[in-house]
Amino acid sequence: MLSQLIYVSVRTATCTEHEIEKILDSSNRNNGTKDITGVLLYSKNKFLQVLEGDHDLILSLYDHIKMDKRHTNVVMISIKPIESRYFPSWQMGSKKINTDSFDFLTHMDADSKKDFLDLLAGKDTNNAIRIIHKLFV
Ligand SMILES: Cc1cc2nc3c(=O)[nH]c(=O)nc-3n(C[C@H](O)[C@H](O)[C@H](O)COP(=O)(O)O)c2cc1C
Repeated sequence: MLSQLIYVSVRTATCTEHEIEKILDSSNRNNGTKDITGVLLYSKNKFLQVLEGDHDLILSLYDHIKMDKRHTNVVMISIKPIESRYFPSWQMGSKKINTDSFDFLTHMDADSKKDFLDLLAGKDTNNAIRIIHKLFV
């Protein structure tokens, strides 16, 4: 089943720009063989990744990525079946996002319990994905 998974995480201090390049190299090398596509947004201290592909394959990739020491506080925002991919052309597209706005977008304050999607699109995941997509065109 074709599915889409979105998570956010906190970039650790050890995750330099060079490490980001290595992550993208790994992604482009590995994701293609599994027919996984998506995007990785990153700021000075946050990540947001969208993974699209076979449900089981993206879940096992997510479990693998979660263990990576270059980020922490990994929180899944959503996983759901999709009819077609929003990001068919990237094994892993990437974009560095202005820290201030991205911090706002991914602010996961435990008190408010508002996640990225609430802030961005009022629980409308499709709309949120459209907005993320716009960042790439
Ligand atoms: C934020 C983040 C996103 C990542 N995304 C992917 C990914 O989409 N695909 C992937 O294979 N590895 C990804 N990685 C890297 C994996 O955790 C792991 O280092 C990599 O799969 C190892 O593969 P390699 O030995 O072939 O380089 C990501 C790591 C981080 C921190």
